[in-house]
Amino acid sequence: MTTTLPLPRSRGTGDADLPWLPVWPGSTRPTAHGDLSVGGVPLAEVAERFGTPVYLVDEDEVRARCRLYREAFAEAEIHYAAKAFLCRAMAHWVEEEGLGLDVCSRGELELAVTTGFPAERMILHGNAKSPDELEAALRLGVGRIVIDSTAEIARIAALVPYGARQRVLLRIAPGIAAGAHPAVRTGTADQKFGLSSTDGTAQLAIARVLEQPRLELVGLHCHLGSQISSVKPYLLAVRRMVALMHGTRQAHGAVLPELDLGGGHAIAYRPGEDALDVRALASRVRAELRSACATVDLPEPRLLLEPGRAIAGPAGVALYRVLSVKQNGRQTFVAVDGGMSDNPRPALYGVRYAPRLVGRAASAELSPVQVVGRHCEAGDVLAAGVELPADIRPGDLLAVPASGAYHLSMASGYNLVGRPPVVAVTGGTARLLVRRESLADVRSRDVGL
Ligand code: LLP
Repeated sequence: MTTTLPLPRSRGTGDADLPWLPVWPGSTRPTAHGDLSVGGVPLAEVAERFGTPVYLVDEDEVRARCRLYREAFAEAEIHYAAKAFLCRAMAHWVEEEGLGLDVCSRGELELAVTTGFPAERMILHGNAKSPDELEAALRLGVGRIVIDSTAEIARIAALVPYGARQRVLLRIAPGIAAGAHPAVRTGTADQKFGLSSTDGTAQLAIARVLEQPRLELVGLHCHLGSQISSVKPYLLAVRRMVALMHGTRQAHGAVLPELDLGGGHAIAYRPGEDALDVRALASRVRAELRSACATVDLPEPRLLLEPGRAIAGPAGVALYRVLSVKQNGRQTFVAVDGGMSDNPRPALYGVRYAPRLVGRAASAELSPVQVVGRHCEAGDVLAAGVELPADIRPGDLLAVPASGAYHLSMASGYNLVGRPPVVAVTGGTARLLVRRESLADVRSRDVGL
């Protein structure tokens, strides 16, 4: 691909006249009659054509974000973390942009493989990989498997055919607390991922992997957590991981050629929030790696990164129709036709969003409201304490930016509402990528009476 794409915005701040714009995809433009267009397509038109709720993905924004990583980390391998959002088109885009894929289930692995993504460019993760998944990974030729427990060492080795070797990384918990919420902090010893380097477990596991002739230990991996907005935890991780690699050479004479620092790079969900600056991350991590390796005279390992949210998140927009507006107590509730089944993040992590009224011009004053979903729980709040025009009414459209990661990939079948479709927008055209889940889909799985 040789087209030039606008560079993604790296912070949630910007134009004084349009303070909300920085958290929208780079192609977003205000249009006549108070609407917005994304990828050259007016949002009201998307709602009309595909119905609501609907998720849009700006293809150019995804591609621009892939390129930003490849440029900033020119010497590294970038693997998109499919758990953030995967469909066949997404796999094609990241493949065309030269990224690899981080997969963590047989579903992600096989969807990508059947759409032509080379298994060789994939990394398989998981703290509890099933025998089925491991068998599929080896049969399809996954490039690297990340070992997450000592039990997996012999299990994977036993599946490797005679005469072959499987490349593996070992996941380390380096004892670093980082991430926006306890549920997404994975760098400490007291959670389920990886092997602790602070109590010696990791060192023992390294020795055991090195003893396996059918496993090739190519490096160490850590994923500290998610929605991390500072470079500092990554620098500490570099130092601790290099120390462990140095210890590995001293103990076993093995120089590991790769260091995978996982993902976790924060994006801005609301104007003014900090995103992790990818270029600053690249230059600081590079410098830290150089100096940490030089200190112990270790050859610099090749870096691997696994961003998910920072590639898919800012490219997605969720579009809902307002179904009711009512006053209860001192609160105004604006209820829309989606909710916690398509976006569980506010309920899970208390995340705040910045929805906007689109599709019509509004001159009414802004007034505080709760944007709630349609599900049978009081906790089904999509956006708490936001300001929307006071004349908001049923039939209006609300659009939520920064909705591309961990929404649909975590969507549920709650209340049998059906999962929304995904529409790609680029160059003034919209095309359906994933269709809406229908009652027929639900019924076809329900096979007994
Ligand atoms: N690598 C590994 C091994 C991971 O476990 C993850 C995310 C990533 C990379 C990508 O992290 P990212 O760059 O997307 O932050 N559902 C939560 C996020 C869970 C992240 C799980 N692992 C949320 O909605 O915030």
